[in-house]
Amino acid sequence: MPTLTPGERHDSVLTFLERRKSVPLSLFRGPGPDAPTLRRLIGIAARVPDHGRLEPWRFIIYRPDDGARIGEALAELALERNPQMREDELDRERKRLSRAPVAVGVVSTAADHERIPVWEQFLSAGAAAMNLVTAATACGFAVNWVTGWYSDDAEARAILGLSPDERMAGVVHIGNHDAAVPDRPRPDVDALISDYAGPATP
Ligand SMILES: Cc1cc2nc3c(=O)[nH]c(=O)nc-3n(C[C@H](O)[C@H](O)[C@H](O)COP(=O)(O)O)c2cc1C
Repeated sequence: MPTLTPGERHDSVLTFLERRKSVPLSLFRGPGPDAPTLRRLIGIAARVPDHGRLEPWRFIIYRPDDGARIGEALAELALERNPQMREDELDRERKRLSRAPVAVGVVSTAADHERIPVWEQFLSAGAAAMNLVTAATACGFAVNWVTGWYSDDAEARAILGLSPDERMAGVVHIGNHDAAVPDRPRPDVDALISDYAGPATP
């Protein structure tokens, strides 16, 4: 596919980005993307700025059967961590990875490098996750990017297929929905913008 030509405009992309929003997982239903569509979306996810061309990310596809097995293991681990958990709470854990027809783990594989800070490698993984969110939404899917406690727990990360040095930038759930979703309050952007006023004072 040819890359962009100088000055090429895509106003519909701008309007789309001004309207994009996530869909609550409770509203998800099927179907999700078919295999070629999902492959295309992940290809777009990987088309992100990446200082040093380290490709410091990878993608794990979780389908509902995987999600059910992962959910059982997460519920067991959650119970180990907190033996007081109620059955409804455990049930929530069981469903964590099977609420959408497909979920994609965007995994940061950032590692120490002589020149490229790990922080920048994490940012590139975040950009990959956002590209996946944007592309899947542009395809008409319901999308939601979550991390959850399991991304912050080494044993839980192993259950999700991550090696000890990897981190979960986000699990991007992709499905469909038919209920209208109100927008959430958006930032007062003007309050976030300032002209440069010289060096910060300590
Ligand atoms: C890195 C990251 C992790 C997130 N993890 C969660 C989460 O674990 N649970 C949750 O309810 N929302 C989580 N969110 C927020 C959801 O993505 C939420 O749907 C989103 O902020 C809605 O904003 P949007 O409509 O602009 O997409 C996370 C967001 C980011 C960027």
